Amino acid sequence: MSEQKIQKLAGVRGMNDVLPTDAKQWLYLEKILHDLTRAYGYEFIKTPIVEATEVFQRGIGVVTDIVEKEMYSFEDRLNGEQLTLRPEGTAAVVRAVIEHNLLYDGPKRLCYMGPMFRHERPQRGRYRQFHQFGVEALGFSGPDIDVEIIVMGQRLWDELGLRGVHLEINSLGQAVERAAHREALVSYFTANAAALDEDSQRRLLTNPLRILDSKNSAMQEVIEKAPRLLDFLGAESLQHFTAVQALLKTHNIPCKINPRLVRGLDYYNLTVFEWVTTELGAQGTIAGGGRYDPLVERMGGKAAPACGWAMGIERVLELMAISGSVPEAESVCDIYILHQGGETLTAAFIAAEQLRSAGIDTILFCAPDGQTASFKSQMKKADASGAAFAVIIGPDELALNEAQIKDLRGQGEQHAVPLTKLLDAIIDSLVSASE
Ligand code: HAM
Repeated sequence: MSEQKIQKLAGVRGMNDVLPTDAKQWLYLEKILHDLTRAYGYEFIKTPIVEATEVFQRGIGVVTDIVEKEMYSFEDRLNGEQLTLRPEGTAAVVRAVIEHNLLYDGPKRLCYMGPMFRHERPQRGRYRQFHQFGVEALGFSGPDIDVEIIVMGQRLWDELGLRGVHLEINSLGQAVERAAHREALVSYFTANAAALDEDSQRRLLTNPLRILDSKNSAMQEVIEKAPRLLDFLGAESLQHFTAVQALLKTHNIPCKINPRLVRGLDYYNLTVFEWVTTELGAQGTIAGGGRYDPLVERMGGKAAPACGWAMGIERVLELMAISGSVPEAESVCDIYILHQGGETLTAAFIAAEQLRSAGIDTILFCAPDGQTASFKSQMKKADASGAAFAVIIGPDELALNEAQIKDLRGQGEQHAVPLTKLLDAIIDSLVSASE
């Protein structure tokens, strides 16, 4: 019988593994994000990756690219429920806020981090599974909170040393203003229907604002000349927009007003914004967001104003690499322990746990064949681990109840210490090495 070769399995297109070397940068960024949210009083919330499809249909709007074309939706085989892998975080957070009545005692500042799924054409900076960090401030209506979340973004880019990030803002006004603008848009695009692609002709009847969001380069000229929503804003909307701009100026955050910025999701009103860069090619938007006052009520809650933004973690990490702001990878451990199996392994195991209990990162040599290996080959692994010191416990050392400590970063000095004093000796060595 001929032996069949077992085929290797591959990951899903557009969904990437984060390998250990890259994971270090992720952890670095995540730590900065945790510190940032703490500095501004935002609390983490975690929602499931799968939600009822209606959460996103109602939240994002049915006539959007995301809901029409990009959602991973499926029927639960067991009970027939219509489910969707979350394409974004806001609708899910709002669902959770309403379900758990989180606004019962006033406004809430929330944040989240995790994978999102959109069935887009994979390319640089655009993936089918990607990760977002987002903030949502619920229950606040003033322009001050719009600016707080923008300032928070600016602080993050500064801290990460990102190069060439610019803020674009616009106001989408209120529903009545958008309705008047919509009428003007419909007559303008009807008169120019020949210049519209098939998607946009359909959207002319369903959601003409979305035409402004089209990425079709052949349509850019006709879109450029379309009536501007800004010209339809009433006094209150203009006042909010002016206040946001004034506060941004106070904080020295330059911004460009982009009247064509409409965002790809239907829940927004008033302020919308994006952080863009020319350093990342076609996928230059690293973060986007805005005010979404209608959403809480639309999702079945008691009306509450809100605003927020989310950033694409992969895009920010790529921009960090381009900006040269990726820190040196930290070594994995402080100490690497070598042994010769048997009783020396038992002693090494106990020593390793003792060091870890004292907060010292320790790798214990573990032989691939479950036996042991020569000190020479173990020492190579110790060097490659990046550890500051190796601890050697061989039969000779154990007979004397001792261990050898070897400096792996300096001149390779080595000295013996009693096993009972190992922890103190290691602490002394690490302290003097860091001085
Ligand atoms: P969004 O603009 O759809 O907004 O996504 C936010 C960010 O996620 C984008 O600026 C981009 O950096 C990243 N992103 C989006 N799609 C992909 C993809 N396929 N591959 C890689 N990165 C991607 C939202 O999702 C809103 N929920 C933001 C928000 C929060 N608005 C209010 N609160």
